[in-house]
Amino acid sequence: MKTIESNSHLIYFENSLQQLGDFIKNGQYSKIIFLVDTNTEEHCLPMVKNQLVDLADYDVIEIDPGEENKNIDFCIGIWKMLLDYKADRNSLLINLGGGVITDIGGFAASTFKRGIDFVNVPTTLLSQVDASVGGKTGIDMDQVKNIIGTFTQPKAVFINTAFLKTLNRKEVYSGFAEIIKHGLIYDAKLFKLLLNTKPERVSPEIIYRSVMIKNEVVTTDPFEKGLRKILNFGHTIGHAIESYSLLNDKQPLLHGEAIAIGFICESYLSTKYSTLSELELVEIKTYILSCFPTYKLKENSFKKLIEIMKNDKKNEADKIGFALLNQIGKCDYNYYLPETDIISSLKYYQEVV
Ligand code: GLY
Repeated sequence: MKTIESNSHLIYFENSLQQLGDFIKNGQYSKIIFLVDTNTEEHCLPMVKNQLVDLADYDVIEIDPGEENKNIDFCIGIWKMLLDYKADRNSLLINLGGGVITDIGGFAASTFKRGIDFVNVPTTLLSQVDASVGGKTGIDMDQVKNIIGTFTQPKAVFINTAFLKTLNRKEVYSGFAEIIKHGLIYDAKLFKLLLNTKPERVSPEIIYRSVMIKNEVVTTDPFEKGLRKILNFGHTIGHAIESYSLLNDKQPLLHGEAIAIGFICESYLSTKYSTLSELELVEIKTYILSCFPTYKLKENSFKKLIEIMKNDKKNEADKIGFALLNQIGKCDYNYYLPETDIISSLKYYQEVV
């Protein structure tokens, strides 16, 4: 496994924390500031500091973990701390954490003083294979995920799979869902490999392959004008369920758990509107249900789910947009589907669980 080249920067795999040290040294930054949450401050920051023995001076901004905090209030908190620490345009923000940290940290950095450098050091499986790569930054607003944000590339990404040991089972499975997605949309061989892989034993090679796929797609289409839309497979319905769950469930679904439901619903839609076969739908459904807990989708949530989907930034002219599978390993985009079929796909999920 080697370094992966993105359009404007590198994604480091080998000796990545040492590479981070070299990056900081060579960058001659005026200030180094880590953005962490309470978990990564305890479990990951010490590992990083151990590797960066030469790093004499740095500041730390700490926020509470959780998607519910990926909002403008927390972002203002980060901007204020950057001001307190006297960050200038030659400062570097190091986002050390999962998708929430890389999303909100990237957004805060890309807007502070019209943009300061940031790098991502993803510590969860989800952020390693998805959120930290591709330059999407953002926050949620009014239950709509990532509705405010920018496309701004990090200056580098440092992936260290040793961090994954700090994760609980649910978090590992949540990230594994994005790896499954990469197989479903882009690489049938990867999907087959996953069928015989226990998520808790996911290998660095599989993570590497998954990052390669994500990177290949986003370097081809950084601003999501076309191909990048395939990465949204499972997410139109999945995001709506995630937002709904965040608001209504005592124990909200994690992102990957929600999009796994989206994979089943949108695979169902793929058999109706694209060329995915019934056999493949059953294969996908059976596999997803073997990995993820079932979720009680209530009939009285459907209206709200559709309302949330209508606010999705992937839509055009009020029509709800989808990426659908042609077959396992191939995906197409720009499908705009009627509400009745979307509801049928939710009912399909209800029936099969
Ligand atoms: N997570 C989907 C994308 O980066 O486009």
